[in-house]
Amino acid sequence: MAAHQPFVSPRHVAIIMDGNGRWAEARGLPRSAGHKAGIDALRRSVRAASDQGIEVLSVYAFSTENWQRPKREVMFLFDLLNRFIKQDVAELHAAGVHIKIIGSRVDLDDKIIKQLKYAERLTADNTKLKLIVAFNYGARQELAQAAKALAELVAAGKMNAADITTDHFENALDTAGIPPVDLLIRTGGEQRVSNFMLWQCAYAEFYFTPIFWPDFDSTALAKALAEYAARDRRFGGLKVQSA
Ligand code: IPE
Ligand code: IPE
Ligand code: MG
Repeated sequence: MAAHQPFVSPRHVAIIMDGNGRWAEARGLPRSAGHKAGIDALRRSVRAASDQGIEVLSVYAFSTENWQRPKREVMFLFDLLNRFIKQDVAELHAAGVHIKIIGSRVDLDDKIIKQLKYAERLTADNTKLKLIVAFNYGARQELAQAAKALAELVAAGKMNAADITTDHFENALDTAGIPPVDLLIRTGGEQRVSNFMLWQCAYAEFYFTPIFWPDFDSTALAKALAEYAARDRRFGGLKVQSA
């Protein structure tokens, strides 16, 4: 029974930070105000995840499909990421956070790329919490990219196609070396994955909450973790019998 089991903490928590626009609209504010408030929720969540002893926190900040939004909103989100990294990097570093940004950099301007690289380099040796920011990220694109990298190794004669395993695939992803997602949280009420970490979530527990992202806080995270702890993860096997 779950009640007799010790509290099980997830190693890797991933969050689809959704509902910024609706949060703002409900207050008669522009969508941009929701995105801004979403940055405060991100700050709170990083602290809360760190306090909870979580090893990896992944957050979905901008999807490859978000390019379909009005140009003004896209530019606002890019600027927000840039400012978040710039303003918060020192504090995150002091808190022992290792920052890693995943996703395609092809369409990002040089100023942002420089900023991201600086943050990654500065915090590379930190071990308290790994913060993965998925920006201009799409899981299908990531998987296609991994297939391409392996195909190139085969074409160059460095590997046999017949020898390709799931480990090779895993190591060709942006998240190589990072444990799989244990708990996927989506705020904002929608119950879908929207092209986020499809491979990494193969055995993740899903947790959906109607709370809009700007309202997410340590209490909301604790609730998700409590529900996770009560879940019975079987990984295709059978329920572990308690004595
Ligand atoms: C999440 O909030 C932030 C991003 C997708 C960048 P939304 O902007 O999707 O907010 P809603 O879903 O429209 O409320
Ligand atoms: C998912 O939210 C992407 C991010 C949170 C960055 P969306 O708001 O873009 O997802 P859909 O369009 O509702 O699926
Ligand atoms: Mg949304």
